Parts: sequence; structure tokens; C-alpha cells
Amino acid sequence: MAKLATLTCTACGAAHTKWSGRCDACGAWNTIVEEAPLSAGPSSKSLGAARGAAVALSDLSAHEDAPPRTACGIAEFDRVLGGGLVPASAILVGGDPGIGKSTLLLQAAAQFGAAGLKAVYISGEEATAQIRMRASRLGLADAPVRLGTETNLRNILTTLDAEKPDIAVIDSVQTMWLDTVDSAPGSVAQVRAAAHELTTYAKRKGISVVLVGHVTKEGQIAGPRVVEHMVDTVLYFEGERGHQFRILRAVKNRFGPADEIGVFEMTGSGLSEVANPSALFLGDRDTPAPGSVVFAGIEGTRPVLCEFQALVSPTPHSQPRRSVVGWDGGRLAMILAVLESRCGIPFAGLDVYLNVAGGLRITEPAADLAVAAALLSAREDNALPQDTVVFGEISLSGSLRPVSQSESRLKEARKLGFSRAIVPERSKAGAAPGMTVQTMPDLAALVGGVFGAG
Ligand code: TYD
Ligand code: MG
Repeated sequence: MAKLATLTCTACGAAHTKWSGRCDACGAWNTIVEEAPLSAGPSSKSLGAARGAAVALSDLSAHEDAPPRTACGIAEFDRVLGGGLVPASAILVGGDPGIGKSTLLLQAAAQFGAAGLKAVYISGEEATAQIRMRASRLGLADAPVRLGTETNLRNILTTLDAEKPDIAVIDSVQTMWLDTVDSAPGSVAQVRAAAHELTTYAKRKGISVVLVGHVTKEGQIAGPRVVEHMVDTVLYFEGERGHQFRILRAVKNRFGPADEIGVFEMTGSGLSEVANPSALFLGDRDTPAPGSVVFAGIEGTRPVLCEFQALVSPTPHSQPRRSVVGWDGGRLAMILAVLESRCGIPFAGLDVYLNVAGGLRITEPAADLAVAAALLSAREDNALPQDTVVFGEISLSGSLRPVSQSESRLKEARKLGFSRAIVPERSKAGAAPGMTVQTMPDLAALVGGVFGAG
């Protein structure tokens, strides 16, 4: 039977039986394209009577040492990796085009080279002269990194065989192609096959491979999500084009904590580390401003303070606007609904804008109370005292739930000069000397007790 071409989503790799404008697996628009079948070979037949070799099984109790790690010295990068580079690991660094992935990885490769590893950087996108120009701009013209430009994976693996590096950066996986796969570079089949070849090569030869993957909004190029499951570590490099701040976020890590972030600043001479992100995200806060509330959050293993800014104004439209940057729109709708039905604070007829300052993206439910406080503060035109931080989770009933790591949140706030905190009842706030901690049983207490509304 002839095998039909399949329809595949280029964003997440899901297979579809019929074309549609939107992929119902990942929700992306215009990403479903026709692709040649992956293989029409013997995979469709059963293995039959031919036996394979037996796998050596072992006990769970076998003693394994922690993997030896090499730190490159860029502390923000090492921490996101889980404390340095693990040999024979495969790492994916995803991000929007132009966000700074090549810059970051050239800098990291140079540092790993300086730390004694043999580093190779293969680009499929830029000419050697272009990369040299970037290197000299970054002050890395003499860095111990071996450079190559190639897109044919067969040639790249031969080169790595000869060179025997400790770390190889492949920029980007979407430009690589295998001559055994019958579809265009950048297609789901090619990107998957290239990533599979490179990760198995990494395991077999004991070298660490870093794959760069461009996030694609739509169209014919496969996104990094289609290879996330193959690699050990998935990092996303985020930030807004207009902003100079960049956040490297671990979303999966077999060798360390996920959710860890590293903060960088894009300067004229490359990315520089930001050692104290709280100070950065808080920015200038000279005068108390209605609608502005400081949230004491946790990003990975680190407490990070940031500022929620809300604006509430009468709407000229029949349908009021809800606009959010850096926080989940669904969660905002939930908090507005709880304020309305549990505390009698209506937002009908009002436009609501919510923003996290500094380009940070917050995903913790612990920020609920800070968001509610920012909304109330904006609506009542009543600023919280400037030395106050807020955290806590809100449930649909309007009650407040304590969140994890209250003590380290409070400690970080104290360190940055804050002296008051508004937190849920039963929060562990024991070790917070010098902080006045105000506890609340429910959202109504915040509405009435702090803002005198409701
Ligand atoms: P790049 O690393 O090429 O992005 P990516 O590999 O993710 O596509 O960097 C993109 C931008 O960074 C580029 O528009 C210029 C800017 N940039 C600086 O601001 N300073 C620098 O030192 C460098 C090298 C780049
Ligand atoms: Mg690049």
C-alpha cells in the first residue's frame, strides 16, 4: 500500500488527518503543512522471530557519582544549567530570531574554551567572516573556539569525529539537513532527524552538544518544540526586542532544577550578567504610585522581587479591554471575578491594563494577591506604602492560601530595604526580623482593611 503524505504541525510536531487553520494540539495558527512520511521502511513490519541482543539490566541500588560539571564562569548561565555543563549532554537553546542566542553561545563557548574544554562552534546561518566580526565586537577575537560553517550533518559529524571537542554548538538545528531524509531543511522531519543524530552522537562520543532553535511563529520552519523531548536540557532565551534585558529560562533539565532563570543585559559589547535582578526589575521607585505593587516571587531557586503595574480606567467601548503583559490573562480574569463576586468590587465598564515591569514573565500563582492589590490600588487611586511587598495565592472562594518559601521571599525583601509585607494567614514568616508582617485570612480583608473599599 502506498503511504500517504502526512499533515504535521511545524510548531509541536503533532500529526493530523486533515488540514485546519489551527493546530488543536498546541493552538498555533497556520502551522499545519504536508510532509513526506518519515519512513516507509521495515518499521511497519513486525520484528518477527529474529532476536536482538539482550540488554544488561542492573539494580536500582547501584551507586552513581554526581556527574562532573564544568562551570564556564558566566554565573547566570552555569546556574541555569544546574551548576555547569554535564559531559555528554544535549542542550536546546530556543528563542525568537534576533534575541541574542548566537551572541550568548559564542560567549559561553569562549568561556568554556578558557575553562579548559575544547569548544567547536558550527554555524549554518552566518559566514565565518560574520562570526569573526561578532567575536571581535565581543572582545573574543583570541578566544580558544574552533569555528566552522556547514549545514550538511554528515560533514559535521565527520568534523566532530576528527576534532573530538568537549562541547559543540550547532547554530541552528533548523538549518541542518541529513541526506538520508527526503524533505527540505527546516521541515519537521529534517529537524527531528538532525536533533536525533546529534543527541545520540553526544551520548555515544561523550561530547556535549548545544542546539540552537529559532522559535517560529508560523509557516514552513519547524519550531524547537518538536525536539524538546529528545534533549536533556531545554533553555529558552526570552526578552523584548526594545528592551535590553534578556532572561535565560530552564523549562526542562535532567541535571538540575527546572524554572531556574539567568538574567542578562544586551550591551554594545555583548551580553553581560545581571547579578541582582531584583534591583533591576524594581527600577526607580521614588514616589508611591497608585496601581504599583511589589511582588516577592521565586524564580527557580532564587527569590526575585518585581513590580506589578495596573491601570484601571472607564472604557469608551461596549466591551471593556483586558490587556496583560508578563502574566496570564486567564488568571487575571479569575482575580477580577473573585473581586467582583466575593468582595463586591465591580470592574464592569472599566478597562484593565496589567504589566510586569522590566519585561519579566511571572507564572507563579503566588502573585495573585499582588495582582489583586495592584488592581484595587489602581481602582481606588490609593497607593500602598512604598516599603511593602505582597504575595499569596487566591482561591475561587476568595480565601488566601499560604505559598512556599515565604521566609526566603521576606528575607530578599528585607535585603532590598522593604520593611512591610502583606501575606496570607498561616504563612511561615518566622525568620523575618525587621519586617512588619500583616496577615490576611481572605481577599475581603485586603479590600476593607488595606484599601477601605468594598
Ligand atoms: P544574535 O545573537 O545574532 O541573535 P539570534 O542568534 O538569537 O538570532 O543577536 C541579535 C541582536 O543582538 C542583533 O540585532 C544585534 C544585537 N547585539 C547587540 O546589541 N550587541 C552585541 O554585542 C551583539 C553581538 C549583538
Ligand atoms: Mg543566530
